[in-house]
Amino acid sequence: EKTGFSHFMEKEIHEQPEAIRRALRGRLDREYATGHLGGLNLGSRELLEVGRIVLLAAGTSYHAGMVATYALEELVRVPAVAELASELRYRNPLVERDALYFAASQSGETADTLYAMREVQRKGGRVLGVCNVVGSTIARESDGGVYIHSGPEISVASTKAFTSQLAAFYVFALLMGRMRHLSFDQGARIIEALEAVPKQIETILANTAPIQALAKRYASCEHFFFLGRGINYPVALEAALKLKEVSYIHAEGYSAAEIKHGPLALITEETPSFFLVPRDGLREKVITSMKEVKARRGPVIALAVEGDREVADTADEVLFVPEAHPLMYPFLLAVPTQLFAYYCALARGCNVDQPRNLAKSVTVE
Ligand code: M6R
Repeated sequence: EKTGFSHFMEKEIHEQPEAIRRALRGRLDREYATGHLGGLNLGSRELLEVGRIVLLAAGTSYHAGMVATYALEELVRVPAVAELASELRYRNPLVERDALYFAASQSGETADTLYAMREVQRKGGRVLGVCNVVGSTIARESDGGVYIHSGPEISVASTKAFTSQLAAFYVFALLMGRMRHLSFDQGARIIEALEAVPKQIETILANTAPIQALAKRYASCEHFFFLGRGINYPVALEAALKLKEVSYIHAEGYSAAEIKHGPLALITEETPSFFLVPRDGLREKVITSMKEVKARRGPVIALAVEGDREVADTADEVLFVPEAHPLMYPFLLAVPTQLFAYYCALARGCNVDQPRNLAKSVTVE
C-alpha cells in the first residue's frame, strides 16, 4: 500500500530513516564501541585472518558496495574492492584464501550476482550475503550474511535498499575495525555518527519543496552530469542511474576529477552538472571542478552542507544537507538525488514505479 504517497518510489524514499534504524537495531554496542552481526558464521580468528574484501553486486547494490569499500578501507585498513558480479564471473577470478566475499542484493535473486557467488564458492571462497528479501536464493546459498530489514521494496528503482545496505556494511566495517586498528573512542564516534543518520535524513525529507522546484526547472534537459569525489563518487554514479532509470534523461556519473579528461567537451549551456560537495577533505577539489564547468557556461547545481556560502556562491543552484561525520555523507547526499530523479520523472509524466523495459528483479543473465 502506498499510504499517503503517490508512488512506491516516493514512499520508499521516505521510509529510509525507519529502514536504516531497522538495519542498525541491536547491532551497535556502545559498551564496547563495536558492531554485532549475528549471521556471519565467522569467528574472531577467521575475521582477523581476512586480508582482502571483495563485494559482488549489480546496479544500485554495486554502488552501495563501492561506497562500502571506502568505509572498509578507512575503518579496517584492509584492501576492499567492489566488482560487477557479471564481470567477475567470466574473468576466471582468482579466489585467494584470505579473501572474504560479499554478495549484495536487495532481491537476493539477481542472476548475475547469484552465479558470481556460486563461481567464487566453487573455487573455495567464502561468500556472505547482504540481502533484503528473507529466504531468497542468495540468502540461502551464501555461507552466512546480514539481512538489511528494509521491508518490501516495490518500486523498480531501488532507494531504501541502497542506504540500508550502507548501514549494514558500516556495522561490519565497525566490527572489523574494532578488531584491528580502531580505538574505543573512534568506534564510539562511528556509532554516534551512524545513529544520527536517520534524524538527518528526516530533516531532508521534511523540506522537499526546493528539490521539487529544482527538478521542475531542469526536467526538460536531455543530458545531465553527476559529479562527486572519494566516498561520494559512487553516490554520483547512483544518482545518474536513478535519473536515467525513472525519468529517461541521459545522465552520466563521474568522478569530478575525471571531467577534465574528456567529458568537459560535452559541457554546454544545455547540459547541467550536479555536484556533490560535502564538507570533507576533497571539498576544495570539487569546488575547483565546479569552476571548470562554470567557465564552459555549464549550469552548476550543488548539493552542499548547510551554511556553505562558498559553494552556494559558486553554483547557480544549491540544495543543502545537514552537517555530518565525513563517512556519513553518502547516506545524506543520496536522498536528495533520489528525490530529484523522482520529481523529474513526475514532471516528465513517466511511469515512476514501472519504468519501461525494466523489471524489479533481473533473474536472467
Ligand atoms: O536485487 P538486486 O539488489 O540484486 O538488484 C540489482 C539491480 O538489478 C538493481 O539495483 C537495479 O539496478 C535497480 N533497478 C536500480 O534502481
